[in-house]
Amino acid sequence: MKIQPVKGTRDFYPPQMAVRNFIIDGWKAVSRRNGFVEYDGPIFEYLQMYQIKSGDEIVEQLFHLTDRGGRELAIRPEITPTLARMVNQQVNALPRPIKWFSVPRLCRAERPQKGRLREFFQWNIDILGADDVLADAEVIFCALDYLRSVGLTSKDVAAKVSSRKLLAALLLHLGVPEASLATLYPILDKKAKLPADVFEKTLADAVGSSSITATILKLLDAHAADDIAAIVPDIASNPTAQAALAELQQIFDALRAMGVADYCRFDMSIVRGLAYYTGMVFEVHDAVGDLRAVCGGGRYDNLLRDFGGPSLPATGMGMGDCVLEILLRERGLLTDDSFKRQTDYFVACTDAQLMPKALEIVAQLRRNGAAAEFSYKTGNLGKQLKQADACGAQKCLILGQEYLAEQKIVCKDMSSGSQTLLTQENL
Ligand code: HAM
Repeated sequence: MKIQPVKGTRDFYPPQMAVRNFIIDGWKAVSRRNGFVEYDGPIFEYLQMYQIKSGDEIVEQLFHLTDRGGRELAIRPEITPTLARMVNQQVNALPRPIKWFSVPRLCRAERPQKGRLREFFQWNIDILGADDVLADAEVIFCALDYLRSVGLTSKDVAAKVSSRKLLAALLLHLGVPEASLATLYPILDKKAKLPADVFEKTLADAVGSSSITATILKLLDAHAADDIAAIVPDIASNPTAQAALAELQQIFDALRAMGVADYCRFDMSIVRGLAYYTGMVFEVHDAVGDLRAVCGGGRYDNLLRDFGGPSLPATGMGMGDCVLEILLRERGLLTDDSFKRQTDYFVACTDAQLMPKALEIVAQLRRNGAAAEFSYKTGNLGKQLKQADACGAQKCLILGQEYLAEQKIVCKDMSSGSQTLLTQENL
């Protein structure tokens, strides 16, 4: 019986591993230049941790297990709860603001589809201990800083920004009971994922009033404060909504000052599915709009308190590798030729008695920091040159007649084909 890989997982053969490393190295470099330091946590946690505040969708997608001591555990579907738990443990010792990043491997028992797998990598950046909207702007900037660094322009991707605080104020203003808000968010988050009639019916069933449902539907299409004022004229007198709008304005002002305003737009349809968001929320989508979000995040000021810690404001985002890779390939920013193997030297040996010398030279090159390869078989030069080419050698050092006659090594430049004679000391 041939064992198959589990659906929704990936095998990383060397070419796929090169792509994964390219993406992750970029995430790490951008995190560091934006002032974040790296952390990680365990790959499984107590199941209960995800049931507290992540929301039903994440809980339904958990891979969970019972250990031999009867403890209910789950493989991490996200790292934000782990981050909250870890920061809570050392909260008094950590200098503020806490700016941490991580690239965890995550598992969600989703139905595998384009850009969605059951195991993936997710870049996380989070800022804790800062209630300033500049921290929200910095999270969005950092995500865009990475996307711009890999060649994605504002024509390729857009950061759609909104506010849970604003949405909550509007819903309460319309007469939605406070107790219903938490159930409404995941429904509203489905707008782009469901057919319009199915979405409207689900929303109407949850809201229970057709006039409120109609107003909510209009609000989800709002792209400016003026749009909101036109839909809900007396909102000008609602201080919470006005404060939330002012915060959004400050975030957009900061993003303009940081030179990424062309990527950003206000979009009330961004709600986010996770339960813990309390303020700014955002997602980056591709311009064509046929892929799921490239990344998503927002402010979650109550999560640390909900996890038994002190009240500590927090904001952050997560970006998965799957949608990103699809997008980079679609835009021609990543091709299978992007990661050709590279070696500095290939040492070819056409005479078996020169093998000890070849080994000495390979070892000498490697000791000095050069990447060097050689063939276990001496003799046929043509075959060895093919092998040199396959491992992307810049130069091939040939030990053969010239070495036997006058201790000279032939150095062949693999791109131009030109050859020079060297002694071992010249290397
Ligand atoms: P999320 O929206 O669940 O947020 O995931 C963020 C990103 O992770 C998505 O936009 C997508 O790129 C990627 N992602 C999620 N699920 C999958 C999947 N099954 N396959 C491939 N990629 C996936 C969070 O996880 C929050 N914890 C992010 C956050 C950090 N918020 C604040 N800090």
